[in-house]
Amino acid sequence: MTIPRFSWKLVSAQQGIMQTSYSIRVGLDSKALLKGQNILWQSGKVISDQSVFVPYAGSALTSRQRYYWQVKVSDSNGNSSAWSEVKFWETGLFHHSDWSAKWIEPTLPGDSTGQPSPLLRHTFELRNTIQSARLYITSHGLYEAHLNGKRVGNQYLTPGWTSYATRLQYQTYDVTSLVNNGSNAVGVLLGDGWYRGWLSGKKNIYGKNLGLLFQLEIKYADGSTEIILSNDQWKCSTGAITRSGIYYGETYDARLEKRGWTQSGFNDSDWLPVRTRDIGKENLIAAYAPPVLKHEEFEAVKVFKTPKGETVVDFGQNLVGWITLKVKGKSGDKIIILHAEVLDKEGNFYTENLRAAEAEIQYIVKGDAEEVYEPHLTFFGFRYVKVEGYPGELKNENIMATAVYSDMAPTGNFSSSNSLLNQLQHNIQWGQKGNFIDVPTDCPQRDERLGWTGDAQVFFRTAAYNMNAATFFTKWLKDLATDQAEDGRVPPVVPNMVNKDFGASAGWADAATIIPWNMYMAFGDKRILEQQYESMKAWVNYIDKTSKTDLWNSGFHFGDWLFYKPVHDDDDRSTVTDKYLIAQCFWAHSTQLLLKSAKVLGKTEDASRYAEMLKQIKDAFQKEYLTANGRLVTGTQTAYVLALNFDMLPENLRAQAAERLVQNVKDYGNHLTTGFLGTPYLCEVLTRFGFVDVAYSLLMQETYPSWLYPVKMGATTIWERWDGIKPDSTFQTPDMNSFNHYAYGAIGDWMYRTVAGLQEVVPGYKEILIAPKPGGKLSNASAELETGYGLAKSSWEIQDGMFKLSVQIPTNTTATLVLPKAASANITEHGIDIGKLKTITSSGKDGNDLKIKVGSGSYQFEYALK
Ligand code: BGC
Repeated sequence: MTIPRFSWKLVSAQQGIMQTSYSIRVGLDSKALLKGQNILWQSGKVISDQSVFVPYAGSALTSRQRYYWQVKVSDSNGNSSAWSEVKFWETGLFHHSDWSAKWIEPTLPGDSTGQPSPLLRHTFELRNTIQSARLYITSHGLYEAHLNGKRVGNQYLTPGWTSYATRLQYQTYDVTSLVNNGSNAVGVLLGDGWYRGWLSGKKNIYGKNLGLLFQLEIKYADGSTEIILSNDQWKCSTGAITRSGIYYGETYDARLEKRGWTQSGFNDSDWLPVRTRDIGKENLIAAYAPPVLKHEEFEAVKVFKTPKGETVVDFGQNLVGWITLKVKGKSGDKIIILHAEVLDKEGNFYTENLRAAEAEIQYIVKGDAEEVYEPHLTFFGFRYVKVEGYPGELKNENIMATAVYSDMAPTGNFSSSNSLLNQLQHNIQWGQKGNFIDVPTDCPQRDERLGWTGDAQVFFRTAAYNMNAATFFTKWLKDLATDQAEDGRVPPVVPNMVNKDFGASAGWADAATIIPWNMYMAFGDKRILEQQYESMKAWVNYIDKTSKTDLWNSGFHFGDWLFYKPVHDDDDRSTVTDKYLIAQCFWAHSTQLLLKSAKVLGKTEDASRYAEMLKQIKDAFQKEYLTANGRLVTGTQTAYVLALNFDMLPENLRAQAAERLVQNVKDYGNHLTTGFLGTPYLCEVLTRFGFVDVAYSLLMQETYPSWLYPVKMGATTIWERWDGIKPDSTFQTPDMNSFNHYAYGAIGDWMYRTVAGLQEVVPGYKEILIAPKPGGKLSNASAELETGYGLAKSSWEIQDGMFKLSVQIPTNTTATLVLPKAASANITEHGIDIGKLKTITSSGKDGNDLKIKVGSGSYQFEYALK
């Protein structure tokens, strides 16, 4: 059964407020609900401080029904709220039998990738006053639907990308305002998209035929209903889009537009019939993740000529989406637009790093009045476009760009007194925007754009600070489990369109355990662990089966991908980390997370089994990779970082191992050399073992390899490689040189968690830790995060020897604060000595730091730094 959960936020200006009880009520009619009538389900008064993910416990829900609900609460000060405003949810189609529509396919020549995009059309009469209309729709390929000349909804790249054979999303639209009592027409454009387009060297991956499933359900004011379906009455033709593809882009011949084809008066007598296909509905699922929508718009910063004489537009930001072009020309004028992230050393347009992705628009002018064009079923990663064949002079106002990405609510921000660091945060956020396009992709521009599991796990924690990525990843993790092999192997890309005989690489396949656990920590939702538990377990069991004498030392691994290797690295500290040492560390990590999950879910037998396994993994690690004196067989930063972060070493050898790590960093002149797997934990490990100053020296490092080097080189997103552009402005190899690859943006987590000091203690921020660690010559830093309970904030400032910490703790949560160097300071809160405040309790000293506990509310601490 489908069980929705309720979450709400308490707002209070007072300090120390907790919820003590709640009541929820649900009904089918909002007006009756407000009066307390016709209640379908009510929780009654429940004594509890739970205010997130409270499950519905009424009778089974039915398809296509709107449910209204309200909540009221009481708090620890004895206040009771009134009933909240009424909110609603609406169910989709729960059962396959809810679908009466038939799959239809165009009967146009050439059933394969790269053909003109089909148009499907149907007319129908409605003969009554319409009360409501819902469209349930999906496709093989991408679709764009229109009703009576208007685009349906504001979503793009629908139906999204999932493991189509098992999970194909349908979208639901409220189209009440788009249909009429009288004659109506529907027109749906289809495109190759991920379904049959050319993807990473393959085509027709999911099938050769594009298709549509369409079910429009009308409720009339008199209570009767009517349903309009995709069936053999529909017709098909082609229109202006003569070629469309995710990597290709779009060819649009405006002369071939079928004006009015989505309206009822249009003459479709020469259109072809469609064929119906008897395809099961078992794979249909309601869309789960946030839709892909248009977001920021960018005006052209400048239109200029390159040394080669190319006409290039700069939008000032490396973004993902597309351009809108205005043009007035002669019929048949052909405009070619190419996309690029960077200019080369000479300032010319550079596309070699897109590899085989054409990323091209060809627009053929119709020749009427001014034409306004934007592409349809594709997307591009670019900061610059090159425009050829534009009639007349291209001016800034003729072209703009729109960023398009999954509509996740922005939840977090980090800022500081250092503008380079702020630009880094900006770049991390734009790396996320550009690569969260229904699936978490490695990069958005070249012939890849795939859901690489390693990249996603590396970046997850940072992503969960920046935006509410919960449903986005819930959907993707289901695809991960779906595409997992029977023996438990997890593919390197999800959805897996590569092949079935993939090797499961350490650090990539571990997305199966790392992301669910980190999701649980970030959002506090146990259900994600329940949902993924079997997948997590299958993955760990697979490694166990593959291992010999408790060592995972076989198979293919990507290793510490794209680590930095100096040209002259004659010193044996070196930068290349043994891949099986890495594998052993990740096996331990995955087992640890599975063990923790088993405990959360009350699976005690599993918990003891995996505790035993974990011990054996670590013992084997120590025998194989560690000398008696504590030296690892690979002396790289990544080796020490992973061994320390995953507790692979006996406790008595950890401190010296951390010193070896520090020495290595210093040997490289305070530079990191880590790749995808070592980088996310580097500063965290240094901090944990008392070397926060070394962590800061890495964060603030401006020469490469470092996070700020690309910033100094003008980056507006995170680069795939530490030295994507060298100091002499030449490029790294075009084979692997994306300028929008979020993996190294994983440092964002440390910036929120440690620099500003805002992190969760109890999953979902029910208990918060505020423990800023000033350093790096910063005079202030601040992080805020919209949690499930409300806004949490940690903001510190050092001014004239005074330390000021401003904190916001959401209602219905508590926090521990660790005030740096405050152990013997006189501390005030809003000017009052904290010893006099009942809302603040001290919980002891931690070295030089003072630990206190507070309840919800705003606090301003101040003390002199000694
Ligand atoms: C992708 C990566 C990915 C890697 C696997 C690359 O082509 O862009 O980010 O994780 O392959 O090693």
